[in-house]
Amino acid sequence: MYELNGRVAIVTGAARGLGLGIAEAFAKQGAIVVPTDRPGVSLDETAETCGRAGAAEVYRHDLDITDRDSIDRAVADVKGKYGHIDILANNAGLNRPKPSEEITEELWDSVMDVNLKGSFFMAQAALPVMRAQGRGRILFTSSVAGLVARENQAPYCVSKGGINSMVRSLAFDCAAAGITVNAVAPCFAMTALSKARLEDPEYRAMVLGMIPAGRLVEPSEVGALFAYLASDEAAMITGQTIVIDGGWTMW
Ligand SMILES: NC(=O)c1ccc[n+]([C@@H]2O[C@H](COP(=O)([O-])OP(=O)(O)OC[C@H]3O[C@@H](n4cnc5c(N)ncnc54)[C@H](O)[C@@H]3O)[C@@H](O)[C@H]2O)c1
Repeated sequence: MYELNGRVAIVTGAARGLGLGIAEAFAKQGAIVVPTDRPGVSLDETAETCGRAGAAEVYRHDLDITDRDSIDRAVADVKGKYGHIDILANNAGLNRPKPSEEITEELWDSVMDVNLKGSFFMAQAALPVMRAQGRGRILFTSSVAGLVARENQAPYCVSKGGINSMVRSLAFDCAAAGITVNAVAPCFAMTALSKARLEDPEYRAMVLGMIPAGRLVEPSEVGALFAYLASDEAAMITGQTIVIDGGWTMW
């Protein structure tokens, strides 16, 4: 069940955090994992983790999702090497919390460029390959912040809400081609993106108070959901944002 044997899976923002968890989960299911991250960011830990976890192969590649040439190069290289691209996990993201009055155009654009625009054009680049092969899985890392308000994070919340909407549009456009498009919306996980805030005891207590399960989500749990959505068994799930939040958004 949920096997990904020999499936080629590109993961963006895979050097650490949730991207590493997603790459490892694909590796455990036997995928050919293509961990990617910005040029200059080491993928050593991810490559070693995927190798140990049972990846059929690991092919690391640099990929800046705000750079169209970088996207096209990576997609062409992976297609050239394996002939197919079965799974795209659009995970790269960033957050720059600031009160709304202090958000500059530069900050707004930097968050949108990665979280929303970059992930759209990454999906767009993979689509022709998936359409030609008649199957594919495009997945996004969204966030509960796309569903509920978070303080001082207007651009981040908008970008994740945009992803939730984008998966419906993309899913509609390519459902008949055997391609599914879904988002996974986690609550807080302890990663570089959230560490500074979660190390503040008051902030951490506030976050845990919002999560009925009483703990943060683990990258491995997010990865397992990605692996399921990437599998053949999930063929009828498309256009959805699946929440993995210990109950945060149920009340
Ligand atoms: N950590 C959390 O609490 C949490 C909760 C919900 C959703 N998310 C989402 O999970 C995803 C992964 O975040 P994380 O928590 O692992 O953070 P992280 O900062 O540990 O990892 C983000 C990765 O994205 C990469 N990245 C940034 N800009 C990029 C670009 N232009 N091109 C390619 N890669 C780029 C970074 O180099 C980094 O490796 C993000 O989309 C984030 O919004 C995180």
